[in-house]
Amino acid sequence: MTDQRRLLVTSALPYANGPIHLGHILEHTQTDIFVRFQRMRNHECVYVCADDVHGTAVMLNAEAAGQDPLDYALAITEAHKVDFAAFDISHNWYDTTHSSENRALATSIYERLRASGNIKKSDVAQLFDPQKGLFLADRFVIGECPKCHASDQYGDNCDACGATYAATDLINPISKLSGVTPELKTSEHVFFALSQHAEFLSAWTTSGALHPAIANKLSEWLESGLQDWDISRDAPYFGFEIPEEPGKYFYVWLDAPIGYISASQQYCDQQGMDYEDFWRSDSTAEVHHFIGKDIINFHALFWPALLKAANLRTPTKVHAHGFLTVNGEKMSKSKGTFINANTYLTHLPAGYLRYYFASKLNANIADIDLNLEDFVQKVNVDLVGKVANIASRCAGFINKQFEGQLRATTGTPLLAETQAAAELIAEHYENLAFSKAMRVIMGLADQANQFIAEQQPWKLIKQPETRDQAAAVCADGINLFRLLALYLKPVLPQFATQSEAFLNVPPLTWADHQHLLTDHAIKPFKPLIERIELAQVEAIVTAERQAAESLQVPEVDKNSTDQPSDAFINIDAFAAIDLRVAKILDATAVEGADKLLALTLDVGDHQRTVFSGIKSAYSPEELQGKYTVLVANLAPRKMKFGVSEGMVLAAGPGGEDIFLITPDAGAKPGMKVS
Ligand code: MSP
Ligand code: ZN
Repeated sequence: MTDQRRLLVTSALPYANGPIHLGHILEHTQTDIFVRFQRMRNHECVYVCADDVHGTAVMLNAEAAGQDPLDYALAITEAHKVDFAAFDISHNWYDTTHSSENRALATSIYERLRASGNIKKSDVAQLFDPQKGLFLADRFVIGECPKCHASDQYGDNCDACGATYAATDLINPISKLSGVTPELKTSEHVFFALSQHAEFLSAWTTSGALHPAIANKLSEWLESGLQDWDISRDAPYFGFEIPEEPGKYFYVWLDAPIGYISASQQYCDQQGMDYEDFWRSDSTAEVHHFIGKDIINFHALFWPALLKAANLRTPTKVHAHGFLTVNGEKMSKSKGTFINANTYLTHLPAGYLRYYFASKLNANIADIDLNLEDFVQKVNVDLVGKVANIASRCAGFINKQFEGQLRATTGTPLLAETQAAAELIAEHYENLAFSKAMRVIMGLADQANQFIAEQQPWKLIKQPETRDQAAAVCADGINLFRLLALYLKPVLPQFATQSEAFLNVPPLTWADHQHLLTDHAIKPFKPLIERIELAQVEAIVTAERQAAESLQVPEVDKNSTDQPSDAFINIDAFAAIDLRVAKILDATAVEGADKLLALTLDVGDHQRTVFSGIKSAYSPEELQGKYTVLVANLAPRKMKFGVSEGMVLAAGPGGEDIFLITPDAGAKPGMKVS
């Protein structure tokens, strides 16, 4: 075995403004498999995380809930911890970024930056909501695109034409928080002099710390020139106040990654270790960050530059993954495919999903699709049909006919081959090529099953002269199973624990693949894993869809750190109606209904079917391609003819005089109508 390594591993810190969902679980599963693998290899591997509690979104959500922001966040953090534990995520430490350690670190790092000439100040003119008394982050402002004049565009970029601009460029801007017209107001901001680190970043991004595809992408960025990074926000803001800058707070993205350091500090303090061993500029330990592709800039540009400027070590590796989609589409609340960790767990055990994710994960940033049918199929075929089957086929004979004793094996070459695969599988785990590791393991499981099928121990056992042969074949089978359980242990820790109990062995480590079990007593076999049915998975989707309907939560597009989470904001009933632009893709008469047309609507990121009583005024043909306005958060209604997913707005006395409400020109499907 190689020399012992010291690793500090992190997953991105989830925001404390909503529950843990399967996208987070994908990231933490990827991280956890890597961590558990390292620990099985006898390396020291510390895995820390925390909730990211600062920023405007948490502050406003807490305010709407009538709570202190910290109390609001802490309750969410507690729920996050429960979800992660239930998914067997083996964090050594999980706290929040609002700790005294993090405050002290953010402050001292800032002092170092200041002392080394890395802090600049300059005036920034920003939109200010006079009613709310706060500066508006880009996502809290909507208005007309300065380029294509589409209405209802956010303050950072235009959905219609793709233009990027400053919020101050929007025409007729409106505050999303109060609906009033914001004012332009100037205040002094504090900047980290990122532009001074261009040369360092060119070198660092191509030093092997990043996947080459990401390094390439970033080099385009670096060539176009780096701007200094605005690290301050004006009060009111939930965060840490900047030393000697009363009323100014660190931008949440400044102290969030420092949370990696403070979490490791808290853990090391508890363990009597020195966290600085991980973070000193000359540290020989490794630091690995696991993140999603949406936050690469923060981790591969700002963060290494900041660490360097503060004379701390830079990350060994930043591993980025793609986004989780469900059945090939972006997760959607209305479709029930925005699945919370907790909802999944009330229907199915964690291991199935951990295995499915492992079977799809690789080191690149391609999105990962959870196809629900494929999920059921893969779990049943691979885990139940292949792996667990080996043990159940052999254990009965050993337990009932041979007093639970494993004696000699047959010495089949398959045993040595399965042992020898450890090296390749380890390489795949190390390189985050989990899907390849799973393929190798399942290939071995196929061979093991084939071997048992050929040997037919159930026949051998019937003749006295071949009874020993039967015992040896079953000993082979149990040994093959043990090796597979060992190889799968980073992915399926609970399955491994149950297998260890059945095999009557201490916790398996990677080196245990080097020997086999002979002259060893096993325990009675209990089924290790059950088949799953598609209905169980469908129940998850139904539960999420119903939850979304009862809350009438509009889709929230998670794109920004300062995104308001509409789910928690108390607004009066009228404002709660979510009106969206919808394009009529198809209209058909409903058989047996005099007044109804069935409309197929394009609502931007998804389609819906809505029944509307406008048949007397419109022919189906003339509606095709027309735009209208949809009440998007109306609970679906089951009608005789099917389920109506919302309602389109129409007005008029009736008969031929019913008029569909149409949005302004330039409207795009899915756009909010206010
Ligand atoms: N708080 C920041 C991270 C700060 S790290 C110093 C944040 N929080 S988040 O809750 O929005 O996301 C946490 C992690 O989950 C990110 O790495 C993000 O990419 C990941 N994911 C969030 N949704 C995801 C999917 N649908 N699929 C896969 N990962 C996704 O960003
Ligand atoms: Zn535009």
